[in-house]
Amino acid sequence: MTASAAGVSVHRDGAILVVRLDNPPVNALGARVRAALAEALAQAQRDPGVRALVVTGSGRMFSGGADISEFDKPMQPPQLPELIDRFEDSDLLTVAAINGTAMGGALELSMGCHHRIASEAATMALPEVKIGILPGAGGTQRMPRLIGNAAALDLIVTGKPVNAAKALSLGLVDELAPAEDFEDAVLDYVRRLLDAGAGPRRTRERDVDQDDALFEAALAKLPDTAANFAARRCVLSVQAASLPFREGQERESELFLECARSPTSAALIHAFFAERQAGKVEGLDPATPLLPIRDCAVLGAGTMGIGIALTLADAGLEVGLFDNSPDTLQRALAHVEKHYLGLAARGRFDEPEARARIARIMAGDDERLARVDLVIEAVFEDMALKKTVFADLDARCRPDAILASNTSTLDVDEIASATASPQRVLGLHFFSPANIMRLLEIVRGRDTSDSVLATAIALARRLRKVGVVCGVCDGFIGNRMLEGYGRESGVLLMEGASPAQIDAAITGFGFAMGPFAMSDLAGIDVGYRVRQQRGVDPADAMIYAVGDRLYGMGRYGQKTGAGFYRYESGSRKPIPDPEVDAIVEEEARRFGISRREIPVEEIVERCVLPLINEAANILDEGIAMRASDIDLVWLYGYGFPAWRGGPMHYANTLGTGRVLQSIRRYARDERYWTPAPLLERLAAEGKSFA
Ligand code: NAI
Repeated sequence: MTASAAGVSVHRDGAILVVRLDNPPVNALGARVRAALAEALAQAQRDPGVRALVVTGSGRMFSGGADISEFDKPMQPPQLPELIDRFEDSDLLTVAAINGTAMGGALELSMGCHHRIASEAATMALPEVKIGILPGAGGTQRMPRLIGNAAALDLIVTGKPVNAAKALSLGLVDELAPAEDFEDAVLDYVRRLLDAGAGPRRTRERDVDQDDALFEAALAKLPDTAANFAARRCVLSVQAASLPFREGQERESELFLECARSPTSAALIHAFFAERQAGKVEGLDPATPLLPIRDCAVLGAGTMGIGIALTLADAGLEVGLFDNSPDTLQRALAHVEKHYLGLAARGRFDEPEARARIARIMAGDDERLARVDLVIEAVFEDMALKKTVFADLDARCRPDAILASNTSTLDVDEIASATASPQRVLGLHFFSPANIMRLLEIVRGRDTSDSVLATAIALARRLRKVGVVCGVCDGFIGNRMLEGYGRESGVLLMEGASPAQIDAAITGFGFAMGPFAMSDLAGIDVGYRVRQQRGVDPADAMIYAVGDRLYGMGRYGQKTGAGFYRYESGSRKPIPDPEVDAIVEEEARRFGISRREIPVEEIVERCVLPLINEAANILDEGIAMRASDIDLVWLYGYGFPAWRGGPMHYANTLGTGRVLQSIRRYARDERYWTPAPLLERLAAEGKSFA
């Protein structure tokens, strides 16, 4: 076997054996790599000419840690905790040379080595909690011994990364070296250690403080809910570091297993893999040539246009910003400046970086429009306007420039039909605030070319977005599903639940916000205008009756200090308002609806099941390519609770049979509670959404 077929390569420099992890793309510590590391260590220990073993990574990564695809299989020996113990127990000096990112198991391996040197460009994290588990290869036992309880607890419970400078100041690494010439610096460092007669320095032999008050306070901040399942066990496991090392390790293993078997980790790992699947399009050749994107135009400098411009500038792209209102454009540019200087003031980056980003967003002009690689249109949501804009862009932009619309609902094919080159048109549906929200729906039109689609998928990655490809339909994936959720919350309101009860049921389910608090945040006037434009079926009038009344009273939500709730000046805290309750009762009477007390479970089911039912139709129609894409849309665009894995994963945990049964139970109206044919088929066959 050649060295790198084993996932590591080994070379010798005098008395130093350098073992390099070489397992693209992230040098994961899969079974093959673990076996090769164990073998390299054993050989080095047998060789009297070797006085130190250095483990480092190839490429820009040290290692991404454990291989998550092995999680649901029996673990091949040597297991990671045992391998790390061998590195620590070794009488031969072991050194971790952290050349780049070291995540999870890889950082645990480094902490088991006797000494640690890191590149100034390295980043380190124990992010296990983010997939619902804990660092189970000694990480929760060794980290507090190296950096103290408080710092270890912070890093392990949040999973957040630290840069090299911070790692040095915490004591997580012993020395830093510049990224260029890192290898030479490592050899020099190890020679210095050997010259100084350094022997094994075992992390497990270090002292750790007993600090129960710290751990109790940490637990008190983490209510015992499914969302906190892993975080609480992280706390308990770090606390166990005050036990003798082997006992602490055993406790860590027990807690790790509890996490690994939890529905929370199943959901989070599902989301992790969903993200890796997204953007793979059947029939789209992975070798499809990508169009170069550097220079962009954003049309419309309103809420979305500004956010999109910031996202592009954050990714290093140049943006020409356009708006047909010169005042709006000036305000937008001022906003951009304030935004970046504000981030610099808060320490996100330095002022020169802020200035560089500001300089990337400029007022657009004709010359700019004629040379850009990509245009993203974010003008008013009006088909006639969008068609005029696209016809104009088609004539004025380079023939190979990509023309994208940020429309949230309109037919992308109809927009494309206004151009002579529909193959270069697609939807890029950002979510508000566009520079923060990670979801990007990539709407593939009937004629969108493969290279335009492939470029959009690659662009999403470059913008650090989760790009989900979908077909053309009203509302695409997310907003189309949202419709039923909004409608049911309106009906529940009329039937007897208050805005606060409905919102509490929904936040109890795990959403960050309920539908009425959300409506107050987004603006009741916005929903009202959409209804005016699109029209409302008279049979649905009762659903929107309260919203219409509030609109008529100028209660637009937070921005006017009152909506479904009232707000005290300067506060965003929703306060239930008896005036609203009275309006609801009046409207219910007007529509002849008898009100009753509605159980929490019914509220949740009636809001969440329509999501699943509509998603089944979206999947059946091929608007979404896979169920996990739908989960991503709701996890990253709509705040679906991460630990439930998204609506499709949630449906699978309930069972499609039970979902169907409940939908039938609520059926009152053939327009809205008709079970999706796909759901019926899956339930009949006892299958899940794949
Ligand atoms: P907005 O009203 O804040 O901004 C629209 C801007 O377009 C205005 O500044 C207006 O002056 C400008 N504009 C109008 N016609 C123009 C033209 N011919 N050329 C250049 N500029 C023109 O609207 P918002 O909320 O930013 O929405 C823009 C688009 O994004 C719409 O299609 C909307 O459906 C979509 N969208 C909105 C989201 C939201 O949460 N607000 C979320 C996702 C998509």
